[in-house]
This record gives sequence, structure tokens and C-alpha cells, in this order.
Amino acid sequence: MIKVSGLTKDYGQRRAVNDLSFSIERGEVVAFLGPNGAGKTTTMRILSGYMPPSAGKVEIGGYDIFEDSLKARQIIGYLPESVPLYPDMTVFEYLKFMAELRHVKNVDDRVDEVLELIHLEDRSQSLVSRLSKGMKQRLGIAQAIVHKPEVLILDEPTIGLDPSQIIDMRNVIKEVGKEHTVLLSTHILSEAQQVCNRVLIINKGQIVAEDTTENLQNRLTGGQRVMVKLDGAVEKALPVISSLSGVKSITQKSDNSFEFETAQGEEIRPQVAKKLVENGFGLLELHTSSLSLEEIFLQLTQDEPVAAGQDVVSYNN
Ligand SMILES: Nc1ncnc2c1ncn2[C@@H]1O[C@H](COP(=O)(O)OP(=O)(O)OP(=O)(O)O)[C@@H](O)[C@H]1O
Ligand SMILES: [Mg+2]
Repeated sequence: MIKVSGLTKDYGQRRAVNDLSFSIERGEVVAFLGPNGAGKTTTMRILSGYMPPSAGKVEIGGYDIFEDSLKARQIIGYLPESVPLYPDMTVFEYLKFMAELRHVKNVDDRVDEVLELIHLEDRSQSLVSRLSKGMKQRLGIAQAIVHKPEVLILDEPTIGLDPSQIIDMRNVIKEVGKEHTVLLSTHILSEAQQVCNRVLIINKGQIVAEDTTENLQNRLTGGQRVMVKLDGAVEKALPVISSLSGVKSITQKSDNSFEFETAQGEEIRPQVAKKLVENGFGLLELHTSSLSLEEIFLQLTQDEPVAAGQDVVSYNN
């Protein structure tokens, strides 16, 4: 379990993290999404106890990361943005060293097990300095999970991996996530959808949206959102339209416009148009808008929100 409240971090004049609050339960894999400089790495460093915040509180598995630092850090596995590896050790020696630091029992067996998991078993005797970039990244993940931590914090875990390793790594994360708490940062939106139960979108140090990937997915592939604009007030039209089957969550947007969502796969625009005209309403516009996760992300993280940004803000609840 991760519980963060009011987390703030200033680097001199620059506020990198601004009053951030969220919590992640056991068995959840949560993605931290945000553009460069959003504050993801800063937050993760603080969560792992590597850096104090300027204000706020972090609890890891019930322990305060600063007051109970030792206990909290024992149950954390952390993959930093750039992994500090020891170049002169062999892969096996390095993992064994990291495992012993964390009091792992049956160290040799566990190291073998982890090496197999990240497909480095045939490189166990190679010097760390001789590994390729992707192999180093895998070794970084190995040291993060070697002590079976309750809470796993992974800063861009799949960066630099080849496609087949990416798939394997996502499976490892999903597997670990069944029993543990995982927070990972990524720029790959499809990765967030595949691996994570929930997404936190962060921009300029603040959470701008938070939702289950299922809901985000529904936005992508599910029903349509239909915008309707009339040449007069919409009050009387709302009950008429909401009585149509297939119309969900109808909301008035302005004096003369409203929008609603449709059930998956239903095309009811012709019916809506007919009904409005039959009832004497002047129809000015009728169009659908559906937002992809990319669009949602861009709208939430651009400096100048585009017109439809209004819709997206209601996302944050
Ligand atoms: N050590 C530091 N000293 C001063 N400013 C820093 C430091 N580390 C990060 N920052 C600033 O804090 C802000 C957040 O940076 P951070 O590394 O947390 O972003 P990020 O979301 O991880 O970005 P990316 O996607 O590029 O990894 C940025 O404006 C960055 O310049
Ligand atoms: Mg970062």
C-alpha cells in the first residue's frame, strides 16, 4: 500500500511536485503518465526514500518513509531512472550483493530464480560493464524484485528493451502486481493500458486525471459521445432525448447545447435527429466526439487546453 498526501518538492525556485495526493492498494498496478518534466521521477525518488520532500507525507505499507525509513525501505523495490550498477562485479555477484543487503534467505537460489525471470541466466558470470543497455535495464529490474518487495516502484521499466523483452517484462510486472503494490512510470500509453489497473496522469507536478484503464479503454473503444446544438433552449429537449433507449448520461453544456453518451456499438444519431425535428426543435449541430487516450493525455498536459478540454476536466473525480 502506498499513501501519499500533500506531497510537494521544490528545487530552489522550481516547484517540481505540487501538493500531490493519491493512494495505491495492494494488488494494484498503477501507471504514472506525464510529459517530460511532469515530476514523475521526483515523486518516485521521494516515495523510495532517496530524497526528502519539501512538504507532505508518504506511507509505504503503513510505515512513514521518513520516520520509519528503515522498515519502509525494506519492503520497497525501486528501479531508478538511471540504475547505479557496479561495473566490476559479475551479474551474479551484483544481484547476490543486493539480495544480501536486503537480508534475502537462500540467496543463491533466489538470485538464480530472478536471473531466469529476466532472461539473464546465461550471463550470470559476465561483468556488469559488459552488458548491453537493455540487459543493464533488466538487471536493474532484477535488483528491484530480488527481495520480493511488497511495494514496487519502477521508473520507466521497459525503456531500452527490445520488443520481446518488453512483452516479458510487462508479464513479470503483471504477475508481481497480483500480490504486491506497483507504481510504474511510462510514456507508452498502450503499456499503461495493458499492464495497469489504473492511470494517474500528472502534469506540472499535479494530478490532472485519474481513472481505471477500463474506463479509459471504454472511452477509446466504447460508446460514442454525441454533442447536440439547438437553435433555442434545450430544457424541453432533454427529457425527450433521454427517453430514447441507448442514451446514457445526458448533460446540458450550455443554454442551447447538450451531450450524451451512447451504449457500445449503438448508432442512434438518426433517431435523435428525427425525434428532435418531430418535436419541433431546430437542430443546428449533431456530431460525435470520442477521445483516444492519446488525445486525453495531450489535452490534459498541453499548456493551452483545446476547446474540448472542458469535457476532459470532468474526468478528474
Ligand atoms: N536534481 C534536480 N535539481 C533541480 N531541478 C530538478 C532536479 N531534478 C528534476 N528537476 C526538475 O524538476 C522537474 C520534474 O522533473 P522530473 O525528473 O521529476 O520529471 P519526469 O516527470 O520524471 O520527466 P521525464 O519524463 O523526462 O523523466 C523538472 O522541471 C526538472 O527540471
Ligand atoms: Mg523521469
